[in-house]
Amino acid sequence: MDAVADKSPDLNALAKRLLASVEAAADLGALEALRVSALGKKGEVSELMKQLGTMPPEARKSFGAAVNAVKDQVAAALETRKAGLEAAALAEKLVADRADITLPVRPNPAAEGRIHPISRVLEELMVIFADMGFSVAEGPDIETDDYNFTRLNFPPGHPAREAHDTFFFAPKENGERPLLRTHTSPVQVRTMLEHKPPLRIIAPGRVYRMDSDQTHTPMFHQVEGLVIDRDTHMGHLKWVLEEFCKAFFEVDNVKMRFRMSHFPFTEPSAEVDIQCDRSGPELKIGEGSDWLEILGCGMVHPNVLKACGIDPEEWQGFAFGMGIDRIAMLKYGMPDLRAFFSGDLRWLKHYGFSPLAIPSLAGGLSG
Ligand code: PHE
Repeated sequence: MDAVADKSPDLNALAKRLLASVEAAADLGALEALRVSALGKKGEVSELMKQLGTMPPEARKSFGAAVNAVKDQVAAALETRKAGLEAAALAEKLVADRADITLPVRPNPAAEGRIHPISRVLEELMVIFADMGFSVAEGPDIETDDYNFTRLNFPPGHPAREAHDTFFFAPKENGERPLLRTHTSPVQVRTMLEHKPPLRIIAPGRVYRMDSDQTHTPMFHQVEGLVIDRDTHMGHLKWVLEEFCKAFFEVDNVKMRFRMSHFPFTEPSAEVDIQCDRSGPELKIGEGSDWLEILGCGMVHPNVLKACGIDPEEWQGFAFGMGIDRIAMLKYGMPDLRAFFSGDLRWLKHYGFSPLAIPSLAGGLSG
């Protein structure tokens, strides 16, 4: 009996059946199951191959070739069906995952929120002074009379104390009267008492004075600067202030005017004006014929150094104090200081800054 002739009809029927099932497979899972049951190790076609060993050599050749042909045919059909099913699945996913890009973007908190101009200017100050090697020091809003006045060389009963319109608390049992600091200068005292020179710090913070009109609020902000070293002089002070103004106002040149002045804690003392132009609708810094006072400064008084445990024969330095609100108004053209603290969201939306735009010298301060 001819084995091949005997098996051939079976092979044809098998091929037909398998091809039909491949065609009918509904999804990739069913197709894979079919592949395993037909061509897998124990699949129908593979089982046929195992019969080869029991056949006479002449029958083996043609039977083997016939089984291989079925195998190739089924494998090719599986591939084709697989590609078809995958394409259909992808098309379905593309339709299901479709995004409507015409929808407006939903506002998120980071896009909606605003950084207050004071916080923003504080950041800018810190970036600029950090670049010049200053670190940031802090002190409390509630100060002692000693730190706010006495160690800063305001003698007891001196009229300069009255000039500050100080908010005092009720006296303690020992007679001490705590107060809301009237300037950031007590942070000079704290820094000198805590750290050995050389020193190079800025101290930004809130200060308080009984005062209120369009350009004064009872609480406002200052930044103090203090440098103590062996041979610091007014030239260094001038350079630091000029570099600061150029960086802060983002101009190549600013003309500054140092007017002789008086502060108990500096000697000599000066008030500094910067040149500006108020003739147009916008105030311009670094040109024009007007002057605007922005800070007080001077060489630290030897009495202050002594009161803070530093030998004035060995060390000297300079200090400055600047109104942050004032320079913020100047830079960003905000006319009324009281609006800074009124919590009006419309104002904040207009003058505030995006929380994602962080000031840096490299990126340009005002972004
Ligand atoms: N503390 C002074 C003020 O509030 C400013 C100042 C600081 C002046 C440091 C000189 C040196 O007016």
